[in-house]
Amino acid sequence: MKVLITGVNGLLGQKLLSIFCKNKDCSFDIVAVSRGRARFDGSYKQLKYYDLDITHREQVFNIIHLEKPDVIIHAAAMTNVDYCESHQEDCWEVNVQSVVHMLQAAEAYNSFFVHLSSDFVFAGDKRFLTEEDKPHPINFYGQSKFQAEKFVLKSRVPHAVIRTAVVYGIAHKMSRSNIIFWVKRNLEDGKSIRVVDDQYRSPTLAEDLATGCYLIVQKQSTGIYNIAGGEVLTPYEMAIKIADYFGLDKSLITRTDASEFVQPAKRPLETGLVIDKAKFELGYQPHSFDQGVAILASQLDEEYCLTKG
Ligand SMILES: NC(=O)c1ccc[n+]([C@@H]2O[C@H](COP(=O)([O-])OP(=O)(O)OC[C@H]3O[C@@H](n4cnc5c(N)ncnc54)[C@H](OP(=O)(O)O)[C@@H]3O)[C@@H](O)[C@H]2O)c1
Repeated sequence: MKVLITGVNGLLGQKLLSIFCKNKDCSFDIVAVSRGRARFDGSYKQLKYYDLDITHREQVFNIIHLEKPDVIIHAAAMTNVDYCESHQEDCWEVNVQSVVHMLQAAEAYNSFFVHLSSDFVFAGDKRFLTEEDKPHPINFYGQSKFQAEKFVLKSRVPHAVIRTAVVYGIAHKMSRSNIIFWVKRNLEDGKSIRVVDDQYRSPTLAEDLATGCYLIVQKQSTGIYNIAGGEVLTPYEMAIKIADYFGLDKSLITRTDASEFVQPAKRPLETGLVIDKAKFELGYQPHSFDQGVAILASQLDEEYCLTKG
């Protein structure tokens, strides 16, 4: 089976390469695409890499016509929510228009299209959201993800839409930050941090999200799936758990609320994702947040050993 994965220089893209290239049960031909040169673990042998800007319709068509993938996993996106708010045309090109290009090109081969979406399609007025809840985005990033979902759900190719939230993990050469590094670094430096306690999220280990995508491809499951961690936590609760795990001084963490932060894009308050459908239909079993922190800590140790030679 030939699987084309977009956004392989990003966090999820890297975890997808790891799971699809290393899995021994199935054999996949992997076509990896991202913008610019390949910036991921270069040890995979059986993959082909293309430098592709997904906003370029002709390039998208050329690569899909050349490779004729059975499956496309679309992980590339403009993910900086505040940047999307202030660069709306660019955001629309990357997050919406590129999806239209890919869906149209995929029609010729009836490729199974797996699309990554976000909890930010919701307004933030409900803590536990199922696949049946109606989106109502309150920022431009959310609007772009919701419009892309609509194109996917209306398309003629078989498709799945995956909604996820607060994805944390370690990318190649530590190229992505996350709440765990931020809390750990500040507390280790003895700095106080103010962390919001009125936003509810489902933090998701990047490896778990990649596993969810893998299960969907394996079972060719169609429709909408929430693929996230199994707990709904506030950033403050996450920070306390992180401090506990690393044995850091919790008194440096001050509880605050979202009204204290002025950001270009509004954030939905409550967006916990219910993952029962993925558990029952796919056998998806994510790690707890505590386990996720421990996994990242061990990966940090490995990364430290590698950089020390
Ligand atoms: N991270 C989260 O907390 C989160 C939460 C909810 C949903 N999601 C969704 O999950 C998916 C994966 O997110 P992620 O965390 O892996 O994001 P990420 O680390 O930001 O990766 C996104 C990748 O897309 C690439 N990209 C951006 N514009 C492109 C273009 N014009 N052409 C080709 N590639 C382009 C980026 O390239 P560069 O490396 O060159 O910038 C990057 O490698 C996205 O659809 C995102 O919306 C993520």
